[in-house]
Amino acid sequence: MAQTGKATGPEAAAEVRAPVESMDIITRTPNATGPESKFEKVVILPNADDKDPANHAWADARFATDILSEHGLFFALLMPEELAKEERAEALGFYREFGEMHRQIAADQPPQRNEVKPFLGRIREKVMPFIEYKRRLGDAQRSGKLRSLVWPLFFDHTRHEAERWERRFNALAGGEVEFERKEVVTFWTNIMDEHARFVAHLLDPDEYALIEKAFKTAEVFRKLQSDGVAGAVAALSAQPGTVAGSLGQNPNADAVMSAAQTMLDFKTTAVRDIESARIKSIIEPRLADHVRREALKFVNELKRAV
Ligand SMILES: [Fe+2]
Ligand SMILES: [Fe+2]
Repeated sequence: MAQTGKATGPEAAAEVRAPVESMDIITRTPNATGPESKFEKVVILPNADDKDPANHAWADARFATDILSEHGLFFALLMPEELAKEERAEALGFYREFGEMHRQIAADQPPQRNEVKPFLGRIREKVMPFIEYKRRLGDAQRSGKLRSLVWPLFFDHTRHEAERWERRFNALAGGEVEFERKEVVTFWTNIMDEHARFVAHLLDPDEYALIEKAFKTAEVFRKLQSDGVAGAVAALSAQPGTVAGSLGQNPNADAVMSAAQTMLDFKTTAVRDIESARIKSIIEPRLADHVRREALKFVNELKRAV
């Protein structure tokens, strides 16, 4: 059944609504009636049996436009006017443009079957200039031409995400709904590795234990890149405590699924601890919820992957 939940976020629509009955509203706390804080954004995805390209196009477009809007916001937050006035203004432009697109999609029904291609085409048109921006500024930051507070790897990471959304939209435009396991594992284990290293570098330097945990987690995801037994063995020998701990928490899962689920649980706890300042860091709560939602998407795609 389609559910509704009340959103409390400052930029969220008044009500979160699943547009069709075959979609699930996914909250931080399973089956909650709505977001638990003003920073939580709920995720809406087709249920496991829903293979309708129009529903997947709507859900992935709703998810991705919000993610891309937030990339623009995070860049702006890391670009003081004194350092990068023009680049900051451009970043805010992307933030607003994708935010507007996201709100329109979220308020609307999935496209008709014959409208899926143009619906995705309109988003793709906006994604291309943002990919170009991320590439240009990544190069500028790497070469020292730009001195913002955005790491080169953060430009590359968010560009890789945008490029993958572009590939996903192309596949969906051709009616292809399924995820391929190898692609899902290769893409998301790299993203999870980088998230863990971002976290390690944004924590207060006094947070010794969490910083160490973040680096160990990153190493596990690097080893899991090569899916299968070899990857699991490599991860286990590199970080026996971390991998054994994660498999212990998810005993019925394969190594990648177990690590993905553990990462999602870790980020869910972390975002709560960041919101309430139990963790000392310079991690924006919106960034913490952003990476949590990306881990959630990883788990969901892994479950669907063939
Ligand atoms: Fe992202
Ligand atoms: Fe990310």
